[in-house]
Amino acid sequence: MNKQLIDRYGRIHDYLRISVTDRCNLRCVYCMPKEGMSFEPDHRILSYEEITEIVKVLAKLGVRKIRLTGGEPLVRKQLDRLVAMLAAIPGIEDIALTTNGIYLASFADALKSAGLTRVNISLDSLKPDRFAMITRGGDLKRVLAGIEASRKAGLAPIKLNVVLMKGINDDEVESFLRMTVDEPLHVRFIEYMPIGKQGQGWKGEYLPLAHVWDTCKRTGLRYDACREAFGNGPAQYYRLEGAAGTFGLIHPVSDHFCETCNRLRLTADGNIKPCLFWSDEFNVRRHIGDAAAIESLFFRALDLKPESHEMALALSGERMSRVPTARTMSQIGG
Ligand code: GTP
Ligand code: 5AD
Ligand code: SF4
Repeated sequence: MNKQLIDRYGRIHDYLRISVTDRCNLRCVYCMPKEGMSFEPDHRILSYEEITEIVKVLAKLGVRKIRLTGGEPLVRKQLDRLVAMLAAIPGIEDIALTTNGIYLASFADALKSAGLTRVNISLDSLKPDRFAMITRGGDLKRVLAGIEASRKAGLAPIKLNVVLMKGINDDEVESFLRMTVDEPLHVRFIEYMPIGKQGQGWKGEYLPLAHVWDTCKRTGLRYDACREAFGNGPAQYYRLEGAAGTFGLIHPVSDHFCETCNRLRLTADGNIKPCLFWSDEFNVRRHIGDAAAIESLFFRALDLKPESHEMALALSGERMSRVPTARTMSQIGG
């Protein structure tokens, strides 16, 4: 058996989330400040060749699943070229994309042909005005067109990510649930996480996902747990009675899932992030051209990976055991 990426808590890491850019064509309220962001200059961003070199090292260590994230990954030119390069690496079995969907209608076919398997699309409201407010200017119609184009292109399953926020979109849970009845769509409700500089104001808008169960009870919607696994991430899936699609819950704050963590992150500027929440980072960009050094840096990052995050302490105001990341979610990729 080849070497595997196993951390000191016995967690096997076979999944890499790659942020290909810190830039975005939207400014979602939970992800990026309205203004004042500075972006990495092009020369500090990993090239597609550099990303491929890193993934080749990781594929030999058991990484099988890749997710491309941003910022917004589709603002980076010719993303399909990267997908094709990654798809050609022996051992890589699943290449997925997390996107805001605005440019998806234009790129779905090319991405599918290049080897993309599936897409997760952010969609926090089904009301055009509210959608524009949450995304600070996004056009809901374009995202819906992106979903349709993904379906036609054969990207499957299609998942929709809904970050639940108190007083902002918590009245739309029933509409989102009902979307899964006739179409094979997978709607995931996500707890709003206190990441980066988004801490201010977060507490007032954070809503535990128990709200989804309350909505089912209030509206009489009945569901069952799904046995099938639909991805590589932390969601737990359920199906409304007779529904074509499913709904999933991602609840990092009220009930964390770190004991099953299987993922590492690579930032657009070439840093390994062993955990989404903490500030620990390892600069792999300076080892480009040296496969052995890349490999050993990943093992070092893994060895120092914390057991779990402490997001819930942001609610109680208790002191954390180490320093949380100063990056915004847009600089991490979720
Ligand atoms: P699949 O299950 O493979 O479809 O992917 P995913 O759900 O992990 O990917 P996606 O990018 O759609 O992420 C959905 C939500 O889960 C986002 O809000 C992510 O920030 C969150 N998420 C993904 N991985 C982690 C993790 O390791 N820790 C925490 N706390 N949140 C995560
Ligand atoms: N809390 C929870 N999810 C978030 N995302 C971005 N910021 C946050 C946050 N603060 C989600 C987006 C996207 C995925 C990459 O992460 O909705 O779907
Ligand atoms: Fe893994 Fe960190 Fe996410 Fe927990 S918060 S599941 S340890 S990346």
